[in-house]
Amino acid sequence: MNELDFIQAFLQENAAYAREKFSDRSGLTVTTKTDATDMLTEVDLTLQKRAVDAIREQFPNDAILAEEGEYSTLPADPHGRCWVMDPIDGTSNFVRGRFPLFGISLAFAEGGRAQAGGVGLPGNEDIFLAQRGQGATLNGHRITVSETRDTGLARVDVDFSTRGDRQAMLTRAAPLISGIGQVRCHGSAVVALCEVAAGDADGYVHMTLNPWDYAAGQLLVEEAGGQATRLQGEPLGIFDGGKGVLVTNGALHAGLMNLIQA
Ligand code: IPD
Ligand code: CA
Ligand code: CA
Repeated sequence: MNELDFIQAFLQENAAYAREKFSDRSGLTVTTKTDATDMLTEVDLTLQKRAVDAIREQFPNDAILAEEGEYSTLPADPHGRCWVMDPIDGTSNFVRGRFPLFGISLAFAEGGRAQAGGVGLPGNEDIFLAQRGQGATLNGHRITVSETRDTGLARVDVDFSTRGDRQAMLTRAAPLISGIGQVRCHGSAVVALCEVAAGDADGYVHMTLNPWDYAAGQLLVEEAGGQATRLQGEPLGIFDGGKGVLVTNGALHAGLMNLIQA
């Protein structure tokens, strides 16, 4: 089985479990991590364990970077084979919310870049997949980014994230927030990145994103014809230790970047 097939199979096999847990949250186990808004559920842990076990069985020599617990440190060899996973992105929406704004994100990286990646949005029964150089798909159909060119018409997910990030966003992205056509904040990086890849949104910005939040989504957007960089246009590597992320349909990249303060 190649890496993309593995990702697709994992997302397909686990969508129903995530969907069922979301639709009946009465007995859901929820704990917190760094603060009371940083939540962790049994579903995050179960999905991560299932992925780790499956990777260990199928690709036993590969490194794994995943959000929870012992897997959250960058791989020793940033150019080697490495799987990058966010078991549930949008956990706060998963715990509290009527709308299923959460996703399962899994990417395979080599040479410091994602080579294959996928995001499952179980609430919509959607699976986004991409292989480097071969385009991106949604449920088997090719997707492309939007054609919006005017920043004044742009629909952008401005990810305000946690309280620690908020002031930087308000200060550095103030001209962007005032200048764009529509501001959104879904509380899930992978949902926003899927929206950019599918042309439903034109851009996404975050001040301190982690690799597991964007490894698959970056590839989806790039393969759908969009662009992903650091906030000042520097290349966006998965393991480069950088933080800010700007993702757009490409046509808007320079325009939105100019609206973010250095
Ligand atoms: C979070 C979401 C959110 C972003 C945070 C992430 P999680 O991921 O992607 O949109 O603002 O920085 O940590 O915690 O739901 O996996
Ligand atoms: Ca995340
Ligand atoms: Ca997560």
